[in-house]
Amino acid sequence: MTPPHLITADDPPRPLENPRWGLDPSLTFLNHGSYGALLHPVAQAQAAYRERMERDPVRFFKSDLEGLLDGVRERLGSFLNCRPIDLALVQNATVALATILNATDLKPGDEILITDHEYQSLLNELDRVTLRTGAKVVKAEIPFPIASPDVVVERVLGAISARTRMVFVSHVTSTSGLVFPVKAIVDECNRRGIDVVVDGAHSPGQIPVDIRGLNPTYFVGSGHKWLSAPKGSGFVYVRPDRQKTFRPLALSSRVHKARPERSLFLRDYDYFGTGDYTAVLSIPQAIESMGSLLAGSWPALMRHNHELVMRGAEVVARALGVEPQSPESMIGCMATLPLPEPAAELADRPTRYDDPLQDALFERHGIVVPIWRMGAREQRVVRISAQVYNTITQYERLGEALAKELAGERAYRVSA
Ligand SMILES: Cc1ncc(COP(=O)(O)O)c(C=O)c1O
Repeated sequence: MTPPHLITADDPPRPLENPRWGLDPSLTFLNHGSYGALLHPVAQAQAAYRERMERDPVRFFKSDLEGLLDGVRERLGSFLNCRPIDLALVQNATVALATILNATDLKPGDEILITDHEYQSLLNELDRVTLRTGAKVVKAEIPFPIASPDVVVERVLGAISARTRMVFVSHVTSTSGLVFPVKAIVDECNRRGIDVVVDGAHSPGQIPVDIRGLNPTYFVGSGHKWLSAPKGSGFVYVRPDRQKTFRPLALSSRVHKARPERSLFLRDYDYFGTGDYTAVLSIPQAIESMGSLLAGSWPALMRHNHELVMRGAEVVARALGVEPQSPESMIGCMATLPLPEPAAELADRPTRYDDPLQDALFERHGIVVPIWRMGAREQRVVRISAQVYNTITQYERLGEALAKELAGERAYRVSA
């Protein structure tokens, strides 16, 4: 029987058309960055794994799962350039970041260095961990707009002290959508013997990732963003010298069984209890399917999406009357632009998201794009994503819709 991850698309690639994707084709979907989107062959692979699990759950969990996960580690390891045996497959980056923090023996006075562009789930876990351990968080402020990647290196390295125990830095930041120069930061941390965690939730599939070349202590990744794998397909690379302490937040019923041929690290993550492993099992299909969308495979796809987001950002920036916020070298396939503030009287409008403007874009224009606040100044921003199903017309539509909705906000200010 053909393993499900070798299912190939039966129709020729038509990457610019939505019907190959699970997305609602009536939407102008400009937020691949938050939760990705699924190609049909990937959804089919996951469904095939679910069917296999349900046909004989005992065989699936007791006999087959371990080998299937090893296959995923192999494929993912070759995509990320690291050893498969150094990879743990987990539900998501949130779990991976929390596991790392809980695996680190932090003492009162220890410093955990982060930037002010890190993701909220890390900040929340840091609140809990610092309360418990007495360690403290030091935040390096990274300006936005930003002139050069060197600013990130200077600010982060400048905030390292004799008490710095670990450094967390995003490979591609969430709200600001910036590619950070992590190599220089990792190199310096390694030189000083400081644990360094690269939060790559956004990087695999958006920009090239070379874990061997980077050599961090930990590299956290998501399948369900730019690899377009199913939701719940996270992973983490753990450097061999940290694998003994990188224990799951909950230990499974199997891990006490001695298996001289298999490391505790692998056994810990071979089985985390009964659950749906089909998302991580479908990662290889996602790598194959996405990699076959364009002639030239992944490098061509990343280049296409980068060029598209650059053009899209130009269109939206023009409609907003703002300048690009960073050099092109700090852009992958997402770009963030500043928005004006609404009148104070509009501040209490209800929202399903983070800002009523996002509701308006969705309800009145069918556009899905995040509107957030970021940084110490709580600057309101819009972040656009580019995936191969997007077209330049969609960014034009966003530009027009933003201009219209912002004019409405301004008119309220004038008439209030
Ligand atoms: C930089 C970064 N880290 C971590 C996460 C958490 O990812 P997940 O929701 O898959 O746990 C995100 C989510 O957007 C993110 O952008």
